[in-house]
Amino acid sequence: MQASDIKATLSFSDGSPAIEMPIYKGTIGPDVIDISKLYAQTGRFTYDPGFMSTASCNSKITFIDGDKGELVYRGYQIQDLATNCDFLESCYLLLKGDLPNAKQKVDFETLVSHHTMVHEQMQFFLRGFRRDAHPMAVLTGLVGAMAAFYHDGLDYGDPRIRDIAQIRLIAKMPTLVAMAYKYSVGQPFVYPQNNLSYTANFMRMMFGNPCEEYIVNPVLVRALDRIFILHADHEQNASTSTVRLAGSSGTNPFAAIAAGVACLWGPAHGGANEACLQMLEEIQANGGVEKIGEFIAKVKDKESGVRLMGFGHRVYKNFDPRAKLMRETCYEVLEELGLGDDPLFKLAMTLEKIALEDEYFVSRKLYPNVDFYSGIVQRALGIPTDMFTCVFALARTVGWIAQWEEMITDPEYKIGRPRQLFNGFTSRSVKPLNNR
Ligand code: CMC
Repeated sequence: MQASDIKATLSFSDGSPAIEMPIYKGTIGPDVIDISKLYAQTGRFTYDPGFMSTASCNSKITFIDGDKGELVYRGYQIQDLATNCDFLESCYLLLKGDLPNAKQKVDFETLVSHHTMVHEQMQFFLRGFRRDAHPMAVLTGLVGAMAAFYHDGLDYGDPRIRDIAQIRLIAKMPTLVAMAYKYSVGQPFVYPQNNLSYTANFMRMMFGNPCEEYIVNPVLVRALDRIFILHADHEQNASTSTVRLAGSSGTNPFAAIAAGVACLWGPAHGGANEACLQMLEEIQANGGVEKIGEFIAKVKDKESGVRLMGFGHRVYKNFDPRAKLMRETCYEVLEELGLGDDPLFKLAMTLEKIALEDEYFVSRKLYPNVDFYSGIVQRALGIPTDMFTCVFALARTVGWIAQWEEMITDPEYKIGRPRQLFNGFTSRSVKPLNNR
């Protein structure tokens, strides 16, 4: 962190002495005011629900310029990575800080592919779930259970033990997601096949069966691989902050990632692509393009509680760059599958056009986010709607674990412990039960 020449002064209207606080500069993005000594110097906390103005850590991994609509992993624009690299190269980049050279790429692929199998006992754990459970509930349990299956090294101060935990998570996540799916539809689990690429292997575990050979379609593999790249990391979002906070207690990485999976499930976060596709299907079922006007009116009416899912973002106040890439992939996949006339895709494009011209959305800087199109792509690939967030979790695992590693190795690392503004009762005494 580089200290700025400028300092911030905080003064109080009640005559309490003013204090000076250092300001730090990042390599890009807003400067931060260091308030870490504020409580010691003033006896006051800061108040910032939803972390609207608070940088919770310093990081070198991912940067979003919300106004420009840019997403950058370790200095590389997402468009560059999504066009020229595959998901495992992006994983290497996020974890290690640089793109792999040819040898490092092969070594990394070999390493990951040698950890794709899960403990055979994991099947029996999985069989304890109801078959109609939401796959995210199952996945949260499975990832948490990894802490029970892979507890051979618990000294996370040792970089070798951290490395192996990271590789296990990245390698086994596709196997677990596919197992959760196969279980829900009552089909046999398909074991990984390590001569396939990471993404082709996942597709085979999802859609293959023991009775016939699974034919890999490179266009569809590339589309899903791009979904993985676009979702691999996204700064200090809710689930990543959850992983950091959970991990800050020193808990094992599997437990911390399970907390991230649970957080991701929410409809304002990872659950949005599922919610978005449901919304499109509902509009389609109730009259389609003709009824978009009525739907938009409902969205604008605050009383209705309806939001245009796949629109808006806490950080992007311009187009989400991932949405542009996803729209491109959407075209490619629908074309490949002969679904160029897909009514939901047409509906989505019309809805996007209408919303982008509407004063309500323009004035609030609400643009399509990645989820607006990723649901359509996943549906075309044959991924059921309730599995969408699991696919997101699979992809985000590398971001979570890279951020966890960065936190654990940060010399300033402390257990996370937010403060509060207490507004409840201060003192009450318990009355006997029959007097309450
Ligand atoms: N539809 C209608 N109105 C909206 C929407 C929307 N999708 N999003 C925000 N608004 C309005 C909101 O009502 C508010 O209006 P007003 O100022 O009149 O009260 C204003 O825009 C600001 O909204 P906010 O809730 O303060 O914005 P936020 O930054 O807290 O919320 C968000 C960000 C993503 C939760 C929100 O835009 C949203 O709920 N979008 C729909 C869900 C969605 O698509 N989520 C996926 C996010 S991308 C995936 C990921 O990175 O996890």
